[in-house]
Amino acid sequence: RGGKEDSRGALVVLEGLDRCGKTTQSTRLVANLERLRHSAELWRFPDRTTSVGQMISSYLSNKSQLDDHTIHLLFSANRWEKRSLMESKLKSGITLVVDRYSYSGVAFSSAKGLDIEWCKAPEIGLLAPDLVVYLDIPPEKAAERGGYGGERYEQLEFQKKVGQNYQVLRGPTWKIIDACSPMEEIEEQLQNMALDCVKTCQEGKPLSCLWS
Ligand code: TMP
Repeated sequence: RGGKEDSRGALVVLEGLDRCGKTTQSTRLVANLERLRHSAELWRFPDRTTSVGQMISSYLSNKSQLDDHTIHLLFSANRWEKRSLMESKLKSGITLVVDRYSYSGVAFSSAKGLDIEWCKAPEIGLLAPDLVVYLDIPPEKAAERGGYGGERYEQLEFQKKVGQNYQVLRGPTWKIIDACSPMEEIEEQLQNMALDCVKTCQEGKPLSCLWS
């Protein structure tokens, strides 16, 4: 137990409201991990490159309309279609830094009024993150950041509800970073959190599944 054969990469997820800085910080984290000689890859959901991802992308840019339950299941399917690849990458020792995951799925869909337990159900059995870092920003501050890009969910009132839902989802693997801190400070905090997590996974922490 805890031997070399159980060593694996870590599943690190970044979550937060739109415009909280997740994409910048996840990119920097991967670069920093690589600089420290850890193998790491940047992933994101939705993964718009697959055919399911293209349906999601078209919905988000208001080019198509879908029932709320249907789009929820497509977001989930988009994670399921990547599950086995994620598992094999992790087992081969690669740390995955993932920009949004199941928590976005639940927080955004339940902000439309869907039942939270119904929203969680299709995520059961996906790989559980070893660390979830929540970049915490007041919705008003996020809205001020260069304006929203005009995608479907980028509206203040909606983002406020999403923020409340994220609070309900917070669990023991979550760490919170103040997303209004200077970028360099966020980067450093995130790197330290991730390095701790990478270490425990190298030491053989077993992979687990949602919702745990
Ligand atoms: P992105 O801007 O990070 O590419 O995400 C696109 C939008 O999709 C963002 O507003 C969050 C939302 N979203 C969901 O509603 N459900 C999900 O499962 C995911 C991953 C994102």
